[in-house]
Amino acid sequence: MGIFDLVVFGGTGDLARRKILPALFKRFCAGQMPKPSRLIGAARTDMDTEAYRAFVRIAIKEFVDIPDGDDAALEAFLAQLEYVVLDARGDTGWATLQGMMAPDRVRAFYFSVGPGLFEDLACKLHQWNLTEDDSRIVVEKPFGRDLETAQELNAILAAHFHESQIYRIDHYLGKETVQNLMAVRFGNMLFEPLWNSQYIDHIQITVAETVGVAGRDVYYERAGAMRDMVQNHLMQLLCLIAMEPPAKFEPDAVRDEKLKVIRALDPVEPHHIVRGQYTSADGVASYREDVGNDRSKTESFMALKCHLSNWRWAGTPFYLRTGKRMEVRNSKITVVFKDAPHSIFGPEAGRHNNELTIVLQPNEGITLDVTIKEPGQGGMRLMDVPLDMSFAEALGEGSHAPDAYERLIMDVIRGNQTLFMRNDEVEAAWAWTDPLIRGWESRGDVPKPYDSFTTGPDGAAQLLRRDGREWRGLLS
Ligand code: BG6
Repeated sequence: MGIFDLVVFGGTGDLARRKILPALFKRFCAGQMPKPSRLIGAARTDMDTEAYRAFVRIAIKEFVDIPDGDDAALEAFLAQLEYVVLDARGDTGWATLQGMMAPDRVRAFYFSVGPGLFEDLACKLHQWNLTEDDSRIVVEKPFGRDLETAQELNAILAAHFHESQIYRIDHYLGKETVQNLMAVRFGNMLFEPLWNSQYIDHIQITVAETVGVAGRDVYYERAGAMRDMVQNHLMQLLCLIAMEPPAKFEPDAVRDEKLKVIRALDPVEPHHIVRGQYTSADGVASYREDVGNDRSKTESFMALKCHLSNWRWAGTPFYLRTGKRMEVRNSKITVVFKDAPHSIFGPEAGRHNNELTIVLQPNEGITLDVTIKEPGQGGMRLMDVPLDMSFAEALGEGSHAPDAYERLIMDVIRGNQTLFMRNDEVEAAWAWTDPLIRGWESRGDVPKPYDSFTTGPDGAAQLLRRDGREWRGLLS
């Protein structure tokens, strides 16, 4: 790893505290922040570098499991941190930051701020000559709230940076198991020949969370599950599951294939969209109480049936669902294969099919259900047993899957954009999402209530039942 300076705008914010700083500390411990690399926190809060180090020390102790009394690594890390008081919209701090920049090292600027400041930051970086041809900027979601705003943001960034310098984060792409999707599909001979509508009955993608939206109410009430989760995280999972094999594991080769998937998505029929809103249960507040709006029409749950119009997937439904305050935290993809075309065992043996389940979190792993003979005398009855591979077991308990941010921040430093979204990908995702949102807004649809800590509104189950299918359980 080369020497770098990572400037974090919004260096005292929640994302920096919870994700960016802990991730960088872990990479430091792994030897990937060689001296004299620095993290420079920049924010409006009036403090000096010593106070910032004290702030970061508390954050790291809160979010990283450091063995008691082993503070040497933490202190060494803090020594590589600096702070500058900076106003994105004014002149305060920019000359200081300019004076801090060192030659001959990678410069990365992390926009850990609301999108309303992107333009100011991009202009100021230019005005103060802070960037070089290979400097990078990192931007967080939400990247726009519709196609128009995403295009505007892309234009703002493009006015100051080349696309190869822009790293749009979707942290799902940094998750270890999400990358494993590509390894499983394209590293094995076993699956790819069957990976199409001829052999696959349908695919389910679920991202269920138990948390509510309290604390993020203003943002969430304007976004809803569609903008917050489906347009980005679920869409990226869908892309990795459905895309054609890229010729190489290289940024544009992978992103070209993902883009083709998004562009092949059909518009979704209104009766294939289920939106829900959690109600109070077990002492937790309802969605409407959490956002302080008793007439809110924003969805905290969403299920969709989608189709891709291309040769590989014609006729195969993709069912997507995500929600807050669901039964358990569980994210997984289930690939349900078709039944064998003919059962030689007769009707009493039952019909069985294979299922490949990729669990993203918690307990990352892969399970393949295969059909075997039910043990015992008499007849030939069939049953399904799982070939189970929990990654923790297979790789050893000590194996630590790096947090998505660890991987992604280091990819920025390495200059590898494979796991970041390109401008056209983001725009294509909004182009598909916008008409769905406009549709339910113009119909005045109100999300259906569902009890907190359940599997969502009844309509979600009916969406599959109508097709003779069932959601795979969240608990299993
Ligand atoms: C974020 C969403 O992008 O992803 C949150 O804004 C959501 O609403 C989070 O809770 C989920 O991320 P993870 O990594 O906990 O699955």
